Amino acid sequence: MTNLWNVGFFLLFVFSTTNLCFCCFHHERQALLRFKRSLISDPSNRLSSWNGNNCCQWQGVGCNNATLRVIRLDIPGDSLWPKNRLEGNELNSSLSELTHLSYLDLSRNNFRSSPIPKFIGSMTRLRYLNLSYASFSGAVPHHIGNLSNLHVLGLGNTEELIVDDFTWVARLMSLEILDLSGVNITRARDFDKVLFHMLPSLRELRLGNCSLSISHFDQTHLHTNITYSTIQTLDLRRNLFEGHIPFFLQNMTSLRVLDLSWNQLNSSIPVMNNLVELKLAGNAFSSFQDTGVWRFCEIKRLDISFSKMPGGLTGPLECSQYNLETLYLKESGLKGEIPISLDRLTSLKELRRIPTGTQLHSFNPSTYAGNNKLCGSPLPTRCSGDERIVTDGAEKQEEEEDDNKWIWIYSTTSGFTTGLLVILGILALSRKLRLSIYNFVEFCTGIKMET
Ligand SMILES: *[C@@H]1O[C@H](CO)[C@@H](O)[C@H](O)[C@H]1NC(C)=O
Ligand SMILES: *[C@@H]1O[C@H](CO)[C@@H](O)[C@H](O)[C@H]1NC(C)=O
Ligand SMILES: *[C@@H]1O[C@H](CO)[C@@H](O)[C@H](O)[C@H]1NC(C)=O
Ligand SMILES: *[C@@H]1O[C@H](CO)[C@@H](O)[C@H](O)[C@H]1NC(C)=O
Ligand SMILES: *[C@@H]1O[C@H](CO)[C@@H](O)[C@H](O)[C@H]1NC(C)=O
Ligand SMILES: *[C@@H]1O[C@H](CO)[C@@H](O)[C@H](O)[C@H]1NC(C)=O
Ligand SMILES: *[C@@H]1O[C@H](CO)[C@@H](O)[C@H](O)[C@H]1NC(C)=O
Ligand SMILES: *[C@@H]1O[C@H](CO)[C@@H](O)[C@H](O)[C@H]1NC(C)=O
Ligand SMILES: *[C@@H]1O[C@H](CO)[C@@H](O)[C@H](O)[C@H]1NC(C)=O
Repeated sequence: MTNLWNVGFFLLFVFSTTNLCFCCFHHERQALLRFKRSLISDPSNRLSSWNGNNCCQWQGVGCNNATLRVIRLDIPGDSLWPKNRLEGNELNSSLSELTHLSYLDLSRNNFRSSPIPKFIGSMTRLRYLNLSYASFSGAVPHHIGNLSNLHVLGLGNTEELIVDDFTWVARLMSLEILDLSGVNITRARDFDKVLFHMLPSLRELRLGNCSLSISHFDQTHLHTNITYSTIQTLDLRRNLFEGHIPFFLQNMTSLRVLDLSWNQLNSSIPVMNNLVELKLAGNAFSSFQDTGVWRFCEIKRLDISFSKMPGGLTGPLECSQYNLETLYLKESGLKGEIPISLDRLTSLKELRRIPTGTQLHSFNPSTYAGNNKLCGSPLPTRCSGDERIVTDGAEKQEEEEDDNKWIWIYSTTSGFTTGLLVILGILALSRKLRLSIYNFVEFCTGIKMET
């Protein structure tokens, strides 16, 4: 036993004094350093931990525990706080030397309108690639179509990206989430065919701010084939849809969440039975009636805020029962009395009606903010003979739940902190020792472990 301790302390002594640590492959460390050097600025010094030998412990770098290969580079910036954005004139090709990388998040950094480099297509282990808000521009290289393991691809709001051809996208057979918001895709032939039913795993598609109108969709093709779509979440916000929605959406039975905010829709939305969430904020409906939303009996979340609907809040009467839990009506121009029939929304949590007097403290009139001509409780403007109250219970409830969680975590940790720290310390030490020894053996024998 004493011998074991002695050996342990000896190794510890060696590692701490000589700073010998074989925890990261030399060429991968060099590649990361070259990437760091290629940046022209890092105003808040986010990569300050990028020195020393063990690149597995650098901020934002993740290694496989067994092989010590770099598998993650997770360094998103912050577009609201420019100091937290890394800035580069281009994305340096040294990254392609991280041949085991499966997760790359460079979103919200600033690559100063440079093109997305072709070498990205050689990083074939990538499963997650996020370049959203990273100020790339130009044509998206077709080489990305070589990333057959890709599950998530974020190219949204990047600046002025163009996709002129979608045949390469159709090769991304594992793709589950695709964000092309703000990307110029309208010139590409068949984008609708590829996106709506050639990607067998796609469940989330973001096409906000893409200048799309109904004319961009090949109705005949989509009509016959849309039922095969696997897309559950579809974001079409801030496009150019006018009047009615693209009718093919009706037959898209996979849809659960549909965002049509900030278009120019003015006519009744056709019923889509599987929809759970519908966002219609900022459209051109002239009355609440025109939206047709009360025919959606199963829907849980409905957002009709920022619509200029000068009529009153009518309904709901169409369904015998509603599952609606959340209703957003902010700045909707509504006026008149809040209707009694809202009582039918028995599942409503975020805009709930309860008898007057019992829970006055919990209502939230801000739910109706901007609808200056509405009257009735909980608003300060009374209608004559009003005895009802609309309240917002959910937010409060959630807050309370959160508080409870914190209390729970706090009491658990404070009880065990000391023991936990000791155990974690031992684990960390032994892991470090284990990895170091492992790497040392590999270093000496030259036997490399590949995953
Ligand atoms: C990558 O960055 C390194 C370090 O700044 C630089 O020497 C190299 O030329 C860059 N590579 C390319 C392809 O620009
Ligand atoms: C690697 O080790 C860290 C810390 O010991 C642990 O949190 C993580 O889950 C491990 N990862 C894998 C893939 O085993
Ligand atoms: C990657 O894709 C490009 C363009 O689609 C193609 O020319 C190239 O041969 C592919 N590279 C590999 C290694 O498959
Ligand atoms: C990409 O990153 C941005 C910002 O960091 C984030 O909001 C977005 O959800 C990410 N996209 C995907 C598809 O994960
Ligand atoms: C929409 O995309 C354009 C570029 O195509 C961009 O300049 C603009 O800021 C985007 N608008 C929003 C609201 O994201
Ligand atoms: C999209 O790109 C084409 C060039 O390919 C350009 O003519 C068009 O104006 C762009 N559209 C938008 C909305 O930027
Ligand atoms: C529907 O999809 C099938 C298989 O992808 C295709 O062969 C067929 O041409 C499509 N139908 C139309 C009308 O485009
Ligand atoms: C929906 O699908 C049915 C059956 O395939 C078809 O007859 C109808 O035209 C489609 N409607 C729309 C709006 O695509
Ligand atoms: C609805 O929008 C369409 C397209 O903008 C327009 O032609 C139509 O007159 C509008 N209808 C009403 C009732 O406003």
